Amino acid sequence: GAAELGPYRHYMQKEIFEQPRAIADTLEGVHAVVPELFEAANNHAPGDGAYATFKKIRQVLILACGTSYYAGCVAKYWIESIAKLPCQVEIASEYRYRDSVPDPDTLVVTITQSGETADTLSALRHAQSLGMHHTLTVCNVATSAMVRECKLAYITRAGVEIGVASTKAFTTQLAGLFLLTLALAKSRGLLTDAQEAQHLKAMRHLPVALEAVLALEPQVITWAEQFAGKENALFLGRGLHYPVAQEGALKLKEITYIHAEAYAAGELKHGPLALVTSAMPVVTVAPNDALLEKLKSNMQEVRARGGVLYVLADADSRIEPAEGLHVIRMPEHYGQLSPILHVVPLQLLAYHTAVARGTDVDKPRNLAKSVTVE
Ligand code: G6P
Repeated sequence: GAAELGPYRHYMQKEIFEQPRAIADTLEGVHAVVPELFEAANNHAPGDGAYATFKKIRQVLILACGTSYYAGCVAKYWIESIAKLPCQVEIASEYRYRDSVPDPDTLVVTITQSGETADTLSALRHAQSLGMHHTLTVCNVATSAMVRECKLAYITRAGVEIGVASTKAFTTQLAGLFLLTLALAKSRGLLTDAQEAQHLKAMRHLPVALEAVLALEPQVITWAEQFAGKENALFLGRGLHYPVAQEGALKLKEITYIHAEAYAAGELKHGPLALVTSAMPVVTVAPNDALLEKLKSNMQEVRARGGVLYVLADADSRIEPAEGLHVIRMPEHYGQLSPILHVVPLQLLAYHTAVARGTDVDKPRNLAKSVTVE
């Protein structure tokens, strides 16, 4: 009811603004990267503990749906770069119905807010039926079927999420997945104490960093007013931020009904550039990393065709606003954890565009919060 909403108009907005608290709760009590963090209290399945499992496995297979799938896509970049383990991410409903090559030394990771998504549960059971028994879930509901059926678990503490479009569940999943990456790296002797301390320090600062990003809301509202009249939008990102662009496009589709597509920026010239006109806003996630110069040339390709760019620029990147080039600058450069921050303005963009279009933000047409049937 209205009392629960406090100063917010919708649950989605409230949940976006709860993210500093949700991340803080998810990381509460995490003082060191110990494998036991992944041993859920209610799980008594026989088998190896987290440390033995993390030492033994040779690859990671992530299974999920929807927004949780995009969290998995971000984690793949972390796991391969920090834990040096090959990592595949697969949409649960695809994995369960195809012939794949099982390897018993795989850590099967499911990601699910509800822990009850039928496709993800079936994908887990399919992996088990193929002899893969090292299973771990990153899940927001400790009492769910998924937590019961996996040997290991990291419980996110987003709290109850009511808006159908997932927001705080996504960022807390990312926090849990980053921690998993560090635990895998440490168990495999790939994380020094100094690196561990540095990563934990950056994680603990996330709630403060998120507050600063949320303070960008008025600037995002200006963008949303311009998006409200559009029927198509393109989202570009590279590397770690390609899944962030995908999640931004998904949020916009779900609640505004604007057709949105995300592309890895390097693919622009292989197709979507043909769509670019002044009627097509192009949102670009542009952190200051090794790929920034490449991204800038992708942006030039858009502008040369009259496309209007909306750039989420990093604190320390030199991208200045100009004709056809709108810039919102992120308050801080955040390196590998920056997907957790960059997604927030995209959530706000979808939210405020939906409000401007007058759609039912918390209950978009045709969608359900938790899909427990196939
Ligand atoms: C539905 C929801 C999405 C969610 C997806 C996966 O489609 O509308 O917001 O990302 O299910 O849900 P899960 O609970 O498994 O994360």
